[in-house]
Amino acid sequence: MSNSSPLRRTAKRFLNDAQLEQLVYRRRQIETPMLRLRTRRAADLDALACLHGTDKSSYQHGYTCLYKTHFASRRPTVRRLLEIGVGGITSQRGYETTEGGQSLRMWRDYFPNAEIVGIDIHAKAVSGPHLHFEQGDQSDPVFLRALIDKYRPFDIVIDDGSHIGSHITASFVTLWSAVTPGGMYVIEDLSLAYDPRYGGPPGTPGTAPELIKAAVDDTLLRENDPFRPSIAAMHIYGKIAFFEKAK
Ligand SMILES: C[S@@+](CC[C@H](N)C(=O)[O-])C[C@H]1O[C@@H](n2cnc3c(N)ncnc32)[C@H](O)[C@@H]1O
Repeated sequence: MSNSSPLRRTAKRFLNDAQLEQLVYRRRQIETPMLRLRTRRAADLDALACLHGTDKSSYQHGYTCLYKTHFASRRPTVRRLLEIGVGGITSQRGYETTEGGQSLRMWRDYFPNAEIVGIDIHAKAVSGPHLHFEQGDQSDPVFLRALIDKYRPFDIVIDDGSHIGSHITASFVTLWSAVTPGGMYVIEDLSLAYDPRYGGPPGTPGTAPELIKAAVDDTLLRENDPFRPSIAAMHIYGKIAFFEKAK
């Protein structure tokens, strides 16, 4: 059920979040043998997303087709990926649980030569080969600088954390310098940006869309200055933005 399918839209009208989670869980159980087959035959990112249970899959947000477009050619060369927001939600405690790591495991299985670093404001029990976890707040530049000192550089950074505009901006401002030339910085769930809890209506200072607009200005101004290249390209979709760093 992709995010835009009529079935999903109908399900979202009549079911609450917990019931939707259950539906996704049951569907995954039924489809697991077929998903395993798909991952065996090829590096099928959506099948990995469904199997590991991240909401990036076509069962939920449907980001995997966009990730495939931008990441498929990078599979062998990505050495280090950082994701903000490890996930793992429960009906009783929300994200305040040690569960999570669904998307980190998907990235580990998709990028054969990469170390995967996840950060989260809550303690998460994520461990295993090629997986690293650090607890901290994505809006805290001191924490982010320590992270950069320990793990830099990053070929890919993905912000799937609080989705609050000021946090997204603080992370981007600090972490962009640690992205490799030609690397990618992705911001998810931008559809929340105009919700007052995450930002505010168009034009509100400090929101994620204001960051994107500033990046457009910065890119066009730097275009005239060959010594200060920064953003090579921006790809803005309905709910997700990809920033490609100049080489
Ligand atoms: C949507 S979930 C991440 C889902 C995961 N990336 C996946 O695809 O499976 C968002 C996560 O961001 C974390 N988070 C919320 N505020 C944060 C902050 N200020 N700094 C770091 N992480 C934060 C939450 O604890 C939660 O685990």
